[in-house]
Amino acid sequence: MKPISDKTAELRRLSAEVKAGAAPEKVAAQKKAGKLMARERLGLLLDEDSFQELDLLRSSRAREYGLGDRPLPADGVVTGMGRIRGRSVCVYSQDFTVLGGTLGLAHAEKICKIMDLAVESGSPVIGLCDSGGARIQEGVDALGGYAEIFYRNVQASGRVPQISAILGPCAGGAVYSPAITDFVFMVKGISRMFITGPEVIRAATGEETDSDSLGGAETHSRKSGVCHFVANSEQDCFRQIRELFEFIPQNCKETAPNKVCTDSPKRASDVLDQISRMDPGRVYNIRDVIHEVSDDHTFFQVHRDFAKNLVCGFIRLEGRPVGVVANNPKVLSGALDIDASEKGARFVRFCDAFNIPLLTLVDVPGYWPGVEQEHGGIIRRGAKLLYAYCQATVPKVTVVLKKAYGGAYDVMGSKHVRGDINFAWPCAEIAVMGSEGAVSILFAKELRGGKGGERRRELVEEYSRRFANPYLAAQRGYIDEVIEARLTRPKVIQAFRFLQNKHAPRIDKKHGNIPL
Ligand code: HXC
Repeated sequence: MKPISDKTAELRRLSAEVKAGAAPEKVAAQKKAGKLMARERLGLLLDEDSFQELDLLRSSRAREYGLGDRPLPADGVVTGMGRIRGRSVCVYSQDFTVLGGTLGLAHAEKICKIMDLAVESGSPVIGLCDSGGARIQEGVDALGGYAEIFYRNVQASGRVPQISAILGPCAGGAVYSPAITDFVFMVKGISRMFITGPEVIRAATGEETDSDSLGGAETHSRKSGVCHFVANSEQDCFRQIRELFEFIPQNCKETAPNKVCTDSPKRASDVLDQISRMDPGRVYNIRDVIHEVSDDHTFFQVHRDFAKNLVCGFIRLEGRPVGVVANNPKVLSGALDIDASEKGARFVRFCDAFNIPLLTLVDVPGYWPGVEQEHGGIIRRGAKLLYAYCQATVPKVTVVLKKAYGGAYDVMGSKHVRGDINFAWPCAEIAVMGSEGAVSILFAKELRGGKGGERRRELVEEYSRRFANPYLAAQRGYIDEVIEARLTRPKVIQAFRFLQNKHAPRIDKKHGNIPL
């Protein structure tokens, strides 16, 4: 082999110096905290040997508070391009060992460059966040740097998928970049997200908390809904991100990748038949329905632990990715509340932005009643799901499984909000409300004073016979076909096959005004 030139040797030396990273004690502290190194993370996330680093030699010009006296390798963030399942992605990975992964101007500009390249090349962006936030020594340059990232997050929204993995602290305004991205992943034990930490909260409000219960993975996946996916380890997190990639396209002009389907599109299901025969009072698991409909019985769930009364996620039908939104009778009887409405709205909008057809499975008794819900803004916040369905132009297929009552019937992909093909099982009940409630209102005078018993039973039976069925809706064309429950998969597949080339003209306006 020929000896390398001096210039090449210098390049190799400079690169090696930066890649060697921070001082050994910082590396040791990162490991002790149970966290991987920034470059290790990229190695696990991306296809083998696919990472191409940019701006390796970029450095900070800040000199305040001794910044000029210490090396800040790569200014605390590794940026570049790589591949996931052979598809190109733009990535950044913050290096906590370099001044806590804090964000100064050069650090921000490196991230911005990657985001610009992502939009221009139509590639998803993935951020691996592990940072103490704005680098205090860089003052307003750090704040401006964050704002430049936020601005780009918004410009990229709906053009390329954006994913954030929180792999350490993420504090202050820094949380708003992940918040704008499409999906947030967190890892149990190491991820923390908050606007103000436990000390500030203690000083300001007197509340006692610790950083994990305030902003850990469990909190944000169950209570706040900030986090869509929880992982047990960093490796698990990267595996889940790679799995998500199977269902999402590169950008808004493309469709998600198809897979060869070996499951029969004509497969009938005895399980669905049994569920449809179940007593209306008995509760079933909506995931069983989703599994019976999907290719190979597989379902990739989003927001699994948040607002469990509405289940959202991705399946495949004949190999093509489809987004599923389904009421879950096991929690709050499947009613819609504030959290479910916001969760569903965000999911529907993601699918619509990225050409992923929507399958809606309906079993909903209505909106969840209560003073807390009303005062919490169910009117304004519940309207988000309605808005999202009305706005979505991707192919929409809806199946009313059992109950579809009141406003929730309208919202959940009904014909009126432009469901393309709407099915119902024969046991479906599509009405303003359930029989008991309706009789209590309609015959309040007659039933007053304890007159109930036999007469009430008669009235309930009569109402059920007249209204608690799918046939009135079918007569009016609001249901296109009443189908046998066991044939749900073939019917839904046929509908989506037909809708494959659906084209919805765009309305010429600047943008709508979704209730926020
Ligand atoms: C400058 C910082 C820093 C910061 C940490 N460091 N945060 N340097 N600016 N914001 C430095 C530390 O001085 C230390 O430097 C190194 O990073 C590692 O930090 P440690 O504290 O030793 O690590 P650890 O004990 O693991 O604690 C990590 C931490 C804590 C939880 C992140 O450092 C912390 O609470 N930092 C402040 C977080 C915060 O309040 N951020 C919000 C900033 S305001 P040495 O010299 O030892 O290597 C903000 C607003 C953004 O982000 C606004 C956008 C609109």
